[in-house]
Amino acid sequence: MRVAVTGGGGFLGSHLCAALLRRGDSVVCLDNFSTGDPENIAHLLSDPCFEFQHADVSEAVEVAGRVDAVAHLASPASPPDYLRRPLETLAVGSRGTENALRLALRHDARFILASTSEVYGDPLVHPQEEAYWGNVNSIGPRSVYDEAKRYAEAVSAAYRRTHHLDVGIARIFNTYGPRMRPHDGRVVSSFITQALTGEPLTIYGDGKQTRSFCFVDDLIRGLLALLDSCAMGPFNLGNPVEHTVSELAEIVLAMTGSTSEVKYLPLPVDDPTRRRPVITRAREVLGWEPEIDITEGLRRTVAYFRARPERLAASAAAIRGAQKETVPPAMVARGTGLEQSIPGPAAADTAVTPTAALRPSTLSG
Ligand SMILES: NC(=O)c1ccc[n+]([C@@H]2O[C@H](COP(=O)([O-])OP(=O)(O)OC[C@H]3O[C@@H](n4cnc5c(N)ncnc54)[C@H](O)[C@@H]3O)[C@@H](O)[C@H]2O)c1
Repeated sequence: MRVAVTGGGGFLGSHLCAALLRRGDSVVCLDNFSTGDPENIAHLLSDPCFEFQHADVSEAVEVAGRVDAVAHLASPASPPDYLRRPLETLAVGSRGTENALRLALRHDARFILASTSEVYGDPLVHPQEEAYWGNVNSIGPRSVYDEAKRYAEAVSAAYRRTHHLDVGIARIFNTYGPRMRPHDGRVVSSFITQALTGEPLTIYGDGKQTRSFCFVDDLIRGLLALLDSCAMGPFNLGNPVEHTVSELAEIVLAMTGSTSEVKYLPLPVDDPTRRRPVITRAREVLGWEPEIDITEGLRRTVAYFRARPERLAASAAAIRGAQKETVPPAMVARGTGLEQSIPGPAAADTAVTPTAALRPSTLSG
């Protein structure tokens, strides 16, 4: 099979490209490296079955030769990334998805969309199953990502209905593992970076908010199962074991042997308080479920981060720097008790940048 992977130079995309190559498929990777990293695919470039095209998929998606499947992963995914690139995020979720769908249509290829648990917004039901329609603020800062993905799902479903395109939708929940960028603003990478560099682990809110963390190898097996099926879904792909952010901090501290403190910062706007996928549909239809628990997944991720000390130091400084700027009170979530206490630049400890305020290290794409 020859698979076009948009966003193949990113965290998940590069793992997907490698997994496809390992099982004997050919890969055309398209990326503009807006949030990806050439280093993610450097080890694949010598493989004759791997091709790379530098492309902005919001402009056009052209691939010469046969294409049997399109995996559309291109999109900023971490909150700091999409908050820094609001219009690009909307463009790649809308025009980029349409371009990728048209490529699949031209080749009569299978199309899978990397959607997100963020389509559930701040969910009013818990845990989340696919039948839940979500609770999204359509004009809030995070809407550039959430609504772009909701549109991406809508247009993919419309291509299936209108053109009978073989579409599958994955709603990916927090995924972590090697090749995350240390300062990408996601909770796992932030905590590991902070723990390994002796910086305080920053928790946004009281740390009681929950997330479920899926190790990247498990997630990629799920995407391959979806690619190989003809099911549309949507399918929740994530690990249903729920942890509070405080628990995660404790595990990371214990695993790294770090003596870092824990520091609490204001909760960001629209930060979901609970997230856990119901994965019954993926179990029954795709025969998929996660196998790697948080301890093993974190062990592998910490080992990856430890092997890159030069990146860690720079990233710890970047995370710290982001927290030293200030944010307008309106960007801090109501009800945190911190709305009136956002200090000016001098009182840097509890202040956060618009980016840091909106993203927190508690989130993921
Ligand atoms: N990692 C997660 O936990 C998670 C959770 C939910 C959904 N997802 C989805 O999975 C996909 C991959 O996420 P990731 O974590 O690997 O993020 P990432 O930022 O590491 O990768 C995204 C890739 O897309 C590329 N890209 C962005 N805009 C592009 C454009 N216009 N043209 C070409 N390339 C472009 C980036 O350069 C990057 O390489 C995203 O669609 C994201 O929404 C990820």
